[in-house]
This record gives sequence, C-alpha cells and structure tokens, in this order.
Amino acid sequence: MTFYESVYKHLLSRIDAEWIHDAVVGGLRVAGRIAPARALIESVYGVPPMPVEALGLTFDHPLGMAGGFDKEGECLAATAALGFSFVEVGTVTPRPQPGNPQPRIFRLVEDQGLINRMGFPGKGMEVLARNLERQRVPGLRIGISLGKNKETPLADAHEDYTAGLRRLYALGDFFAINISSPNTPELRKLQSSAYLSDLLARLRAQIGDLAGEEKPKPLLVKISPDLGWGEIDEVLDLCLQHGIEGIIATNTTRNREGLTGKNRIEEGGLSGVPLRERSTAVIRHIREQVGDKLVIIGVGGVFSGGDLREKLDAGATLVQAYTGFIYRGPAFVKRVMGEYRDSVRE
Ligand SMILES: Cc1cc2nc3c(=O)[nH]c(=O)nc-3n(C[C@H](O)[C@H](O)[C@H](O)COP(=O)(O)O)c2cc1C
Repeated sequence: MTFYESVYKHLLSRIDAEWIHDAVVGGLRVAGRIAPARALIESVYGVPPMPVEALGLTFDHPLGMAGGFDKEGECLAATAALGFSFVEVGTVTPRPQPGNPQPRIFRLVEDQGLINRMGFPGKGMEVLARNLERQRVPGLRIGISLGKNKETPLADAHEDYTAGLRRLYALGDFFAINISSPNTPELRKLQSSAYLSDLLARLRAQIGDLAGEEKPKPLLVKISPDLGWGEIDEVLDLCLQHGIEGIIATNTTRNREGLTGKNRIEEGGLSGVPLRERSTAVIRHIREQVGDKLVIIGVGGVFSGGDLREKLDAGATLVQAYTGFIYRGPAFVKRVMGEYRDSVRE
C-alpha cells in the first residue's frame, strides 16, 4: 500500500467524500497558479510523452481526466502537472443549479467504487467560460461536457446543449454530449432515437455554423453502460448518420451486482472497479460494430496500466479515469502510464 493509499484508508475515507473533493479541487486550483508549486508537482508526477493522434488532435499520451472532476474548469494547470494529457471539464448546464441534496457521493471502499448522485450541480456555462478564458495550458487538451438543466423539459433539451456549444465553442478542443448521467430525471431517454436523431441534427447544424469555413471541432456522445446491445447499435447508427466523431464509453451504472460495501444501497451511478468489465465490453462491442468510423474514449474502472491496456486493446484510442485517481492519489497517472509503458515493451 502506498503512503497515499494508507492515508486514504485510515483518514480520508472517514471524511465526507464531496468535502474532500472540493478541498482537492481548491488545492489544485491554488497550486496551479503558483509557478514553483506547479513546477514541483510536474517534476514529481510528470510523465514522458507517448503521443496519440485522435480527433484531428495530438494528445501527449492516452490518459485523461474524466468528466465531473473539474466541473468548473478551475484547475487545468495542476491537472496537466499531475500528468493527465487531457481533461473533460463539466458537465456544465447553461444556468447555475444546486444539484441534488447532500450527501451525494458515497465510497464503497471494499469494492473500490463510488456511487454519486450529484445531479449536475454547478455555476453554469458563463462561469466555466470565464475560467477557461483565463487559463491557457500548453499541451493539455480540453474536452467540454455539455448537459441540460434539471427543469428543462426533454423536448427542449436541444436548446440547452446548443446554448452550451455556442458559448463554449471557442474554448474547447472537443465537446461531449452527456445524455447518460443517471442523476438528472429522464436524461437517459435522450439516448433513444426518438430524441437523439433530432438532438444530433441540431448540434451538428450548430457546430457547422460556429465553424464557418473551418473544419468543425469534434462532437462525441457519452453513453450509459446500462443500454442493451440493440440500443447501443441505434445510438451508433445515429452518430454515423449525423457525422459525430466519437463515443465516450461509459458513464456510471445503476447495476449493483456483486457489491459488498454498505453504501451499495445508495441511489445514483456506480463507478470504479465494479464498472470496469462492463465498460470494456461496451468499447469492444462498439469497435466491432463501427470499425474505425468512430473514435472511442474508454472510461470505467481504470486503476492500473493493465486496465488502461485492456481498454486500448478493446478498441479505445483514448482513455479517461476518475475513481482510480481518487483511490490511488496524485501519483495515479505516473503509475498507470509507467505500468502501461512497461507492458507494451515486454
Ligand atoms: C463524483 C462523480 C461525478 C461525476 N460527474 C460526471 C459529470 O458531471 N459528467 C460526466 O459525463 N460524467 C461524470 N461522472 C462519470 C465519470 O466521468 C466516469 O464516466 C465514470 O465515473 C466511470 O469512470 P471511473 O470508473 O474511472 O470513475 C462522474 C463520476 C463521479 C464519480
């Protein structure tokens, strides 16, 4: 057990998970602004490049921070110093909203998982835009995850997503359409063709307008691991039909099979080790269905270099992690990338 893992087990896991999360994000925000602190973090935790070409962009290596960690885009510099090659900020909604009542993040230490029912709390797209405008971090690729406000009816959801796209287009390298969070009532219905076809057509048209003469920036759809194969295939067909560049697979699951942690009864989306196999199976299925027509960003339960490799071997080009970083701590990227590098050298 590393020093961090021991501190996590004996101390951090006893404190409210969201309180710690906010403290970590706050600490990273401050550290990122102080050049010597940033340089120190980078010298300890930085990783050598292993470049990946995807979505018309070059990434320093395949591992990025998943959506939901840096919701307001506050700690880009420190995220880069911790070794992540990209970050998906958000999910952001057009207007500020409080999200669900606290507590809303629960640890399942025995299962190496988390359950969250955040419900997109946030300060809204204006604050995210201002935060992103203030920071330019060379080398760090920025994805922006777009969502809808809780009170926006499904029939009008496209207005929220297109509003986010318009306000934030200049500030991101790619855009993730989050229609798979289990914590906003009915959001996941947007994955059905009845809504998705219209939503993607409108987003595509909007991004075309924003791009003008230039090539539009990539749009990706983030899907739920709880869709059946047939439902996934429908999403894939629509993505291909509407010129979507990629899929982020997957969001958190409502499945609770095999869990032992006492918090398994909590409502919300489960992430971490219990999600790992399912998300890899979804990645493999997508790759088999679409060949190289869509880029896949794989996410779910990546804790080690072996897990990263499994996602890449299944068909992902890029990989993200969130829960693994929480359990493994600041050396997470260095360790995962080191293990991955060793495994491909063997
Ligand atoms: C506390 C928490 C908040 C999250 N918030 C978001 C979010 O706002 N948007 C999103 O697309 N995914 C969100 N996710 C899901 C992650 O991006 C990721 O898809 C999922 O956790 C699986 O990856 P992991 O096992 O590496 O954590 C959140 C996950 C956690 C644990």
